[in-house]
Amino acid sequence: MGQSTRNFVLHNVTIPKGAAVFPLLGAANHDPDVFENPEVFDITREHNKHLGFGSGIHSCLGAPLARMETRSAIANLIKRNPNLRLAIDASEFEFINTPR
Ligand code: HEM
Repeated sequence: MGQSTRNFVLHNVTIPKGAAVFPLLGAANHDPDVFENPEVFDITREHNKHLGFGSGIHSCLGAPLARMETRSAIANLIKRNPNLRLAIDASEFEFINTPR
């Protein structure tokens, strides 16, 4: 949590000088302004502007390696365990809501 040092407008909301500011980054990869059906797990999304590797000047230097390793790990997991299945029905998963 922080305190604003000046009046400013963020996404049409005026934050007055001295106001307590508590940025919640919970939306991030679930931002409905960026992702269609953000709550749906969809590995076929194109132009996926996720923030998993950060963004901007300090975005992850190892992202290409991490992607390559993940591709290899998942491909081998499936290849070695062709009968891999969820132990429970997907509908039985309980999702926990976090503040946005
Ligand atoms: C799935 C695996 C990985 C994830 C999710 C991940 C995620 C991230 C994220 C979110 C950042 C940005 C942090 C920030 O904004 O301050 C970052 C930075 C960085 N990552 Fe990764 N990373 C992964 C793998 C790797 C690997 C394998 C390497 C190196 C071989 C690596 C090297 C770095 C470095 C050097 C930075 C700092 C870049 C900078 O500050 O300019 N990462 N990573």
